[in-house]
Amino acid sequence: MSDKPVINFTRGVPATESFPIEDMIAASQVALEKYGTTILQYGKSYGFMPLREWLAEWKGVSVDQVLTANGSLQIVEFLCCHALQPGDAVFTESPSYDRTLTLLRRHKANVVGIPLEADGPNIEALKAALAQHTPKFFYIIPDFQNPSGATCSRAKRERLVELADKHGFWLVEDAPYRPLRFRGEEQPSLFDLNPERTLHMLSFSKLIGPGPRVGILYGPAALLQQVAKIAEDTYITPSLLAHGIVYEFCNAGNLPGQIEKLKALYAPRLQACLDALDKHLPTAEATRPDGGFFLSVTLPEGTTTAQVLEQAKAHNLNLASGQAFFPDGGGERFLRLPYCAMTPEVIDEGISRLAAAVKEAQG
Ligand SMILES: Cc1ncc(COP(=O)(O)O)c(C=O)c1O
Repeated sequence: MSDKPVINFTRGVPATESFPIEDMIAASQVALEKYGTTILQYGKSYGFMPLREWLAEWKGVSVDQVLTANGSLQIVEFLCCHALQPGDAVFTESPSYDRTLTLLRRHKANVVGIPLEADGPNIEALKAALAQHTPKFFYIIPDFQNPSGATCSRAKRERLVELADKHGFWLVEDAPYRPLRFRGEEQPSLFDLNPERTLHMLSFSKLIGPGPRVGILYGPAALLQQVAKIAEDTYITPSLLAHGIVYEFCNAGNLPGQIEKLKALYAPRLQACLDALDKHLPTAEATRPDGGFFLSVTLPEGTTTAQVLEQAKAHNLNLASGQAFFPDGGGERFLRLPYCAMTPEVIDEGISRLAAAVKEAQG
């Protein structure tokens, strides 16, 4: 067993040094002084009104098109409660965010994976799946996807909204990484292209920190009303204390600077990961994202992620299995690499250990 410090390429958590602690202390003080009696009380299940108003203005929608919840994963759960009966078809990209797959399975959905390419879902495969089922929704992460790092092209976004209109299904657009573009040109969101057919989700987990648990749902007012009822029946009201603090953080004008700081911290980490792959593991095929938290590699032929994961343990390197991200099989050679919470030096060391583990797995 190695005595080197353990390196974890497992979870997509933010870097703790990115947390804006001083600004959050100030925001907490102001929020409690200004809104103490409101944010220590029960309130509307839609969330804290000043935050909803701020978010509505940020996106250019009306306030009844904004709901905030305790994290965006909770919103996925509410949408499942709202839309799904056992056996209903739901489409996801393949691979997709594993926790959403778990929730969909918990609701006994028939989860159909649409193969994901470097520029978004394979449209021919989507059309073939639509010939078999009309899904209740297509859960999709178009920007800097978790787990692959892929970003959907504009052309595919246009096809997606057309097909959603034609076949009458919702696009559930989960976009927590969208604000973290380090380079390249921003694509319109699905919500920008077709707000009538899209439920757009954002989160402060990757912008401020996961601790306050602020997830955001933008969508048609009538649908949000139904989601708000499910939220009320679940937790009465989201954590207004945390949401009030996040509101004051935003209201003080801190968010744009915070996003710039995150980009400055994370962009070199992405580059370090790409450089280390080129240096230590050139035979692995990697995605080359322009932002976000993840890239992914397809390990060289003749190896599996399961074998490499086992070998890596001896190097004090923890990796995540790829298969959990695939709704209906595949992913035997898929490996997600979350790079944000590690320094460039640790990333280089981690990839060099990965390369050693791959070599050993190849025998
Ligand atoms: C695509 C995606 N959606 C949702 C979440 C969960 O976010 P939240 O902390 O807002 O629940 C994550 C967290 O990793 C994620 O990657």
